[in-house]
Amino acid sequence: MNPLAVTVAGVAFPSPLVLASGVMGLSASSLKRVADAGAGAVTTKSCGLEERKGHPCPSILPFEHGLLNAVGLANPGVEEMAREIAEFQARSPIPVIASIFGRTEAEFGEAAARLLALVRPALLEINVSCPNVSSEFGQPFAADAAACARITSLVKARADGVPVAVKLSLMCPSIAQTAKACAAAGADAITAINSVGPGMLIDPHVRRPILANQVGGLSGGAILPLAVRAVWEIARAVPLPIIGTGGVTRPEDALQLILAGATAVGIGTGIYTCGLEVFGRINAFLTDWLAREGLRSLDALRGAAHHPPPAEARHG
Ligand code: SIN
Repeated sequence: MNPLAVTVAGVAFPSPLVLASGVMGLSASSLKRVADAGAGAVTTKSCGLEERKGHPCPSILPFEHGLLNAVGLANPGVEEMAREIAEFQARSPIPVIASIFGRTEAEFGEAAARLLALVRPALLEINVSCPNVSSEFGQPFAADAAACARITSLVKARADGVPVAVKLSLMCPSIAQTAKACAAAGADAITAINSVGPGMLIDPHVRRPILANQVGGLSGGAILPLAVRAVWEIARAVPLPIIGTGGVTRPEDALQLILAGATAVGIGTGIYTCGLEVFGRINAFLTDWLAREGLRSLDALRGAAHHPPPAEARHG
Protein backbone atom coordinates (compact mmCIF):
# COMPACT_ATOMS: atom_id res chain seq x y z
CA MET A 1 0.00 0.00 0.00
CA ASN A 2 1.24 3.50 -0.89
CA PRO A 3 1.29 5.42 2.42
CA LEU A 4 1.10 8.80 0.65
CA ALA A 5 -2.06 7.98 -1.35
CA VAL A 6 -4.98 10.32 -0.68
CA THR A 7 -8.45 10.69 -2.10
CA VAL A 8 -9.89 14.09 -3.03
CA ALA A 9 -13.57 14.15 -3.92
CA GLY A 10 -13.42 10.51 -4.97
CA VAL A 11 -10.26 10.96 -7.06
CA ALA A 12 -7.19 8.94 -6.04
CA PHE A 13 -3.90 10.89 -5.89
CA PRO A 14 -0.72 8.79 -5.43
CA SER A 15 0.80 11.67 -3.43
CA PRO A 16 -0.87 14.57 -1.58
CA LEU A 17 1.35 17.03 -3.48
CA VAL A 18 -0.47 18.90 -6.24
CA LEU A 19 0.90 21.28 -8.85
CA ALA A 20 -0.95 24.51 -8.05
CA SER A 21 -2.49 26.48 -10.88
CA GLY A 22 -0.27 29.15 -12.40
CA VAL A 23 3.12 27.47 -12.72
CA MET A 24 4.08 25.04 -15.53
CA GLY A 25 0.39 24.52 -16.28
CA LEU A 26 0.06 25.64 -19.89
CA SER A 27 1.22 22.59 -21.82
CA ALA A 28 1.03 18.80 -21.71
CA SER A 29 4.83 18.66 -21.68
CA SER A 30 5.28 20.89 -18.65
CA LEU A 31 2.46 19.14 -16.77
CA LYS A 32 4.15 15.83 -17.54
CA ARG A 33 7.48 17.08 -16.17
CA VAL A 34 5.77 17.98 -12.89
CA ALA A 35 3.93 14.64 -12.74
CA ASP A 36 7.21 12.81 -13.36
CA ALA A 37 8.84 14.82 -10.56
CA GLY A 38 6.40 13.32 -8.03
CA ALA A 39 3.20 15.39 -8.04
CA GLY A 40 0.09 13.40 -7.13
CA ALA A 41 -2.08 15.63 -9.32
CA VAL A 42 -1.43 18.57 -11.63
CA THR A 43 -3.52 21.70 -12.11
CA THR A 44 -3.56 23.62 -15.39
CA LYS A 45 -3.14 27.36 -15.66
CA SER A 46 -6.63 28.83 -15.28
CA CYS A 47 -8.30 29.15 -18.67
CA GLY A 48 -11.27 31.17 -19.87
CA LEU A 49 -13.50 31.32 -22.91
CA GLU A 50 -11.02 33.22 -25.07
CA GLU A 51 -7.25 33.38 -25.35
CA ARG A 52 -5.72 36.10 -23.14
CA LYS A 53 -2.25 37.54 -23.44
CA GLY A 54 -2.28 38.71 -19.81
CA HIS A 55 -0.41 41.69 -18.41
CA PRO A 56 2.81 43.02 -19.98
CA CYS A 57 6.23 42.17 -18.54
CA PRO A 58 7.60 42.41 -15.98
CA SER A 59 4.74 40.34 -14.61
CA ILE A 60 6.67 38.07 -12.20
CA LEU A 61 8.92 39.54 -9.54
CA PRO A 62 10.89 37.26 -7.19
CA PHE A 63 12.09 38.91 -3.97
CA GLU A 64 13.58 37.63 -0.72
CA HIS A 65 10.26 36.63 0.88
CA GLY A 66 8.45 35.15 -2.12
CA LEU A 67 7.06 36.28 -5.42
CA LEU A 68 4.85 39.09 -6.63
CA ASN A 69 2.97 38.17 -9.79
CA ALA A 70 0.53 39.87 -12.10
CA VAL A 71 0.37 37.41 -14.96
CA GLY A 72 -3.19 38.51 -15.66
CA LEU A 73 -4.66 35.10 -16.44
CA ALA A 74 -2.67 34.64 -19.64
CA ASN A 75 -4.02 31.45 -21.24
CA PRO A 76 -4.78 29.94 -24.65
CA GLY A 77 -8.57 29.58 -24.12
CA VAL A 78 -10.54 26.50 -23.08
CA GLU A 79 -10.42 24.68 -26.42
CA GLU A 80 -6.62 24.81 -26.69
CA MET A 81 -6.29 23.92 -23.00
CA ALA A 82 -8.58 20.92 -23.54
CA ARG A 83 -6.20 19.68 -26.25
CA GLU A 84 -3.22 20.00 -23.87
CA ILE A 85 -5.14 18.14 -21.15
CA ALA A 86 -6.03 15.33 -23.56
CA GLU A 87 -2.40 15.03 -24.62
CA PHE A 88 -1.27 14.95 -20.99
CA GLN A 89 -3.84 12.26 -20.18
CA ALA A 90 -2.53 10.15 -23.06
CA ARG A 91 0.98 10.40 -21.56
CA SER A 92 0.41 10.22 -17.78
CA PRO A 93 -1.93 8.43 -15.34
CA ILE A 94 -1.65 11.32 -12.84
CA PRO A 95 -5.01 13.09 -12.33
CA VAL A 96 -5.33 16.49 -13.97
CA ILE A 97 -7.30 19.35 -12.44
CA ALA A 98 -8.60 21.77 -15.08
CA SER A 99 -8.71 25.31 -13.70
CA ILE A 100 -11.25 27.67 -15.24
CA PHE A 101 -12.23 31.30 -14.73
CA GLY A 102 -14.89 33.66 -16.07
CA ARG A 103 -15.13 37.41 -16.42
CA THR A 104 -18.78 37.07 -15.39
CA GLU A 105 -20.62 34.46 -13.33
CA ALA A 106 -22.25 33.04 -16.45
CA GLU A 107 -18.87 32.62 -18.16
CA PHE A 108 -17.79 30.08 -15.52
CA GLY A 109 -20.62 27.74 -16.51
CA GLU A 110 -19.91 28.30 -20.19
CA ALA A 111 -16.18 27.62 -19.74
CA ALA A 112 -16.93 24.38 -17.87
CA ALA A 113 -19.34 23.19 -20.56
CA ARG A 114 -16.99 24.03 -23.45
CA LEU A 115 -14.04 22.33 -21.78
CA LEU A 116 -16.00 19.22 -20.83
CA ALA A 117 -17.35 18.87 -24.35
CA LEU A 118 -13.75 18.11 -25.38
CA VAL A 119 -12.06 16.43 -22.43
CA ARG A 120 -12.81 14.92 -19.02
CA PRO A 121 -10.37 16.09 -16.33
CA ALA A 122 -10.31 14.36 -12.93
CA LEU A 123 -11.51 17.56 -11.24
CA LEU A 124 -12.52 21.07 -12.22
CA GLU A 125 -11.08 23.99 -10.26
CA ILE A 126 -13.13 27.19 -10.25
CA ASN A 127 -10.73 30.10 -9.89
CA VAL A 128 -12.86 32.84 -8.36
CA SER A 129 -9.92 34.51 -6.65
CA CYS A 130 -7.31 35.91 -9.06
CA PRO A 131 -6.20 39.20 -7.47
CA ASN A 132 -4.70 40.57 -10.70
CA VAL A 133 -7.64 41.34 -12.96
CA SER A 134 -9.81 43.66 -10.88
CA SER A 135 -9.14 46.61 -13.20
CA GLU A 136 -10.89 44.59 -15.94
CA PHE A 137 -13.32 42.26 -14.12
CA GLY A 138 -14.01 44.16 -10.89
CA GLN A 139 -13.24 42.78 -7.45
CA PRO A 140 -12.58 39.01 -7.33
CA PHE A 141 -15.75 36.94 -6.93
CA ALA A 142 -14.07 35.35 -3.90
CA ALA A 143 -14.77 38.54 -1.96
CA ASP A 144 -18.50 37.76 -2.10
CA ALA A 145 -19.67 34.43 -0.63
CA ALA A 146 -23.04 34.61 -2.40
CA ALA A 147 -21.34 35.10 -5.78
CA CYS A 148 -19.07 32.11 -5.08
CA ALA A 149 -22.12 30.00 -4.26
CA ARG A 150 -23.91 31.05 -7.47
CA ILE A 151 -20.83 30.25 -9.56
CA THR A 152 -20.43 26.88 -7.83
CA SER A 153 -24.05 26.01 -8.67
CA LEU A 154 -23.65 27.13 -12.28
CA VAL A 155 -20.54 25.02 -12.78
CA LYS A 156 -21.94 22.01 -10.93
CA ALA A 157 -24.97 22.07 -13.21
CA ARG A 158 -22.69 21.75 -16.24
CA ALA A 159 -19.90 19.60 -14.76
CA ASP A 160 -21.38 16.30 -15.93
CA GLY A 161 -20.38 14.59 -12.69
CA VAL A 162 -16.79 15.86 -12.65
CA PRO A 163 -16.04 16.96 -9.07
CA VAL A 164 -15.61 20.69 -8.53
CA ALA A 165 -13.07 22.43 -6.28
CA VAL A 166 -13.48 26.15 -5.58
CA LYS A 167 -10.25 28.15 -5.25
CA LEU A 168 -10.73 30.74 -2.53
CA SER A 169 -8.72 33.67 -1.27
CA LEU A 170 -8.33 35.40 2.08
CA MET A 171 -9.46 38.66 0.49
CA CYS A 172 -12.98 38.23 1.89
CA PRO A 173 -14.73 38.85 5.21
CA SER A 174 -14.50 35.17 6.27
CA ILE A 175 -12.98 32.35 4.24
CA ALA A 176 -14.81 29.83 6.45
CA GLN A 177 -18.17 31.41 5.62
CA THR A 178 -17.29 31.52 1.91
CA ALA A 179 -16.33 27.83 2.03
CA LYS A 180 -19.64 27.08 3.76
CA ALA A 181 -21.56 28.88 1.02
CA CYS A 182 -19.67 26.92 -1.66
CA ALA A 183 -20.28 23.64 0.17
CA ALA A 184 -24.02 24.39 0.39
CA ALA A 185 -23.99 25.09 -3.36
CA GLY A 186 -22.49 21.67 -4.08
CA ALA A 187 -18.70 22.18 -4.08
CA ASP A 188 -16.81 18.89 -3.75
CA ALA A 189 -13.55 20.39 -2.49
CA ILE A 190 -11.96 23.69 -1.54
CA THR A 191 -8.59 24.94 -2.72
CA ALA A 192 -7.12 27.57 -0.40
CA ILE A 193 -5.51 29.99 -0.78
CA ASN A 194 -4.80 32.01 -3.90
CA SER A 195 -2.04 34.61 -3.80
CA VAL A 196 -2.60 37.47 -1.39
CA GLY A 197 -2.95 41.19 -1.92
CA PRO A 198 -2.36 42.62 -4.37
CA GLY A 199 0.92 44.11 -3.22
CA MET A 200 3.47 46.47 -4.74
CA LEU A 201 7.26 46.79 -4.83
CA ILE A 202 8.96 49.99 -5.98
CA ASP A 203 12.38 50.29 -7.59
CA PRO A 204 14.02 53.07 -5.55
CA HIS A 205 16.43 53.90 -8.37
CA VAL A 206 13.75 54.77 -10.90
CA ARG A 207 11.07 55.56 -8.29
CA ARG A 208 8.41 53.49 -10.03
CA PRO A 209 6.50 50.26 -9.26
CA ILE A 210 8.46 47.34 -10.73
CA LEU A 211 5.57 45.28 -12.09
CA ALA A 212 4.15 46.65 -15.33
CA ASN A 213 0.71 46.14 -13.78
CA GLN A 214 2.03 48.05 -10.73
CA VAL A 215 0.41 45.56 -8.32
CA GLY A 216 0.39 41.78 -8.11
CA GLY A 217 -0.52 38.83 -5.91
CA LEU A 218 1.96 37.79 -3.20
CA SER A 219 2.92 34.12 -3.00
CA GLY A 220 5.76 32.07 -1.51
CA GLY A 221 7.06 31.61 2.01
CA ALA A 222 5.65 34.89 3.30
CA ILE A 223 2.06 33.61 2.97
CA LEU A 224 2.49 30.17 4.55
CA PRO A 225 1.05 31.28 7.94
CA LEU A 226 -1.98 32.74 6.15
CA ALA A 227 -2.53 29.51 4.22
CA VAL A 228 -2.21 27.40 7.38
CA ARG A 229 -4.73 29.61 9.18
CA ALA A 230 -7.13 29.51 6.21
CA VAL A 231 -7.00 25.71 6.00
CA TRP A 232 -7.50 25.50 9.76
CA GLU A 233 -10.64 27.66 9.60
CA ILE A 234 -12.08 25.90 6.54
CA ALA A 235 -11.47 22.47 8.11
CA ARG A 236 -13.56 23.50 11.11
CA ALA A 237 -16.32 24.91 8.90
CA VAL A 238 -16.97 22.32 6.18
CA PRO A 239 -16.60 18.54 5.78
CA LEU A 240 -14.92 18.87 2.39
CA PRO A 241 -11.44 17.84 1.30
CA ILE A 242 -9.09 20.83 1.18
CA ILE A 243 -6.20 21.36 -1.21
CA GLY A 244 -4.07 23.56 1.05
CA THR A 245 -1.96 25.90 -1.05
CA GLY A 246 0.28 28.82 -0.24
CA GLY A 247 3.94 29.22 0.64
CA VAL A 248 5.05 25.59 0.65
CA THR A 249 8.76 25.29 -0.01
CA ARG A 250 9.97 23.02 2.82
CA PRO A 251 8.65 19.55 3.74
CA GLU A 252 7.56 20.83 7.15
CA ASP A 253 5.37 23.43 5.40
CA ALA A 254 3.38 20.67 3.68
CA LEU A 255 3.04 18.82 6.97
CA GLN A 256 1.68 21.95 8.66
CA LEU A 257 -1.09 22.26 6.07
CA ILE A 258 -2.00 18.59 6.55
CA LEU A 259 -2.03 18.98 10.34
CA ALA A 260 -4.31 22.01 9.86
CA GLY A 261 -6.74 19.83 7.90
CA ALA A 262 -5.62 19.68 4.26
CA THR A 263 -6.04 16.43 2.35
CA ALA A 264 -3.69 17.58 -0.40
CA VAL A 265 -1.06 20.30 -0.65
CA GLY A 266 -0.58 22.64 -3.60
CA ILE A 267 2.89 23.78 -4.67
CA GLY A 268 3.45 26.64 -7.10
CA THR A 269 5.99 29.27 -6.08
CA GLY A 270 7.99 26.49 -4.38
CA ILE A 271 8.97 25.35 -7.87
CA TYR A 272 10.49 28.78 -8.57
CA THR A 273 12.52 28.74 -5.40
CA CYS A 274 13.43 25.04 -5.08
CA GLY A 275 13.04 23.55 -8.55
CA LEU A 276 10.98 20.49 -9.43
CA GLU A 277 12.96 18.48 -6.86
CA VAL A 278 10.64 19.98 -4.26
CA PHE A 279 8.07 17.24 -5.00
CA GLY A 280 10.48 14.32 -4.49
CA ARG A 281 11.98 15.92 -1.39
CA ILE A 282 8.61 16.43 0.32
CA ASN A 283 7.33 12.99 -0.69
CA ALA A 284 10.43 11.38 0.84
CA PHE A 285 10.08 13.44 4.02
CA LEU A 286 6.40 12.51 4.46
CA THR A 287 7.14 8.81 3.84
CA ASP A 288 9.90 8.88 6.48
CA TRP A 289 7.70 10.79 8.90
CA LEU A 290 4.90 8.22 8.63
CA ALA A 291 7.36 5.35 9.08
CA ARG A 292 8.91 6.99 12.15
CA GLU A 293 5.49 7.55 13.70
CA GLY A 294 4.35 4.03 12.83
CA LEU A 295 1.49 5.31 10.67
CA ARG A 296 0.24 3.58 7.53
CA SER A 297 -1.28 6.66 5.88
CA LEU A 298 -1.68 10.42 6.23
CA ASP A 299 -5.20 9.97 7.65
CA ALA A 300 -4.01 10.13 11.26
CA LEU A 301 -2.13 13.38 10.64
CA ARG A 302 -4.89 15.20 8.74
CA GLY A 303 -6.36 17.85 11.02
CA ALA A 304 -4.41 16.50 13.99
CA ALA A 305 -3.47 20.01 15.15
CA HIS A 306 -7.10 20.72 16.04
CA HIS A 307 -8.16 20.29 19.64
CA PRO A 308 -10.51 18.57 19.46
CA PRO A 309 -9.90 17.36 15.87
CA PRO A 310 -12.58 18.15 13.27
CA ALA A 311 -15.39 15.65 13.67
CA GLU A 312 -15.66 14.57 10.07
CA ALA A 313 -13.18 12.59 7.97
CA ARG A 314 -11.72 14.90 5.36
CA HIS A 315 -10.86 12.57 2.59
CA GLY A 316 -12.90 10.93 -0.10
C1 SIN B 1 -2.57 35.52 -12.74
O1 SIN B 1 -2.66 34.95 -13.82
O2 SIN B 1 -2.49 36.76 -12.66
C2 SIN B 1 -2.56 34.73 -11.47
C3 SIN B 1 -3.68 33.78 -11.41
C4 SIN B 1 -4.32 33.69 -10.08
O3 SIN B 1 -3.76 34.15 -9.07
O4 SIN B 1 -5.44 33.19 -9.98
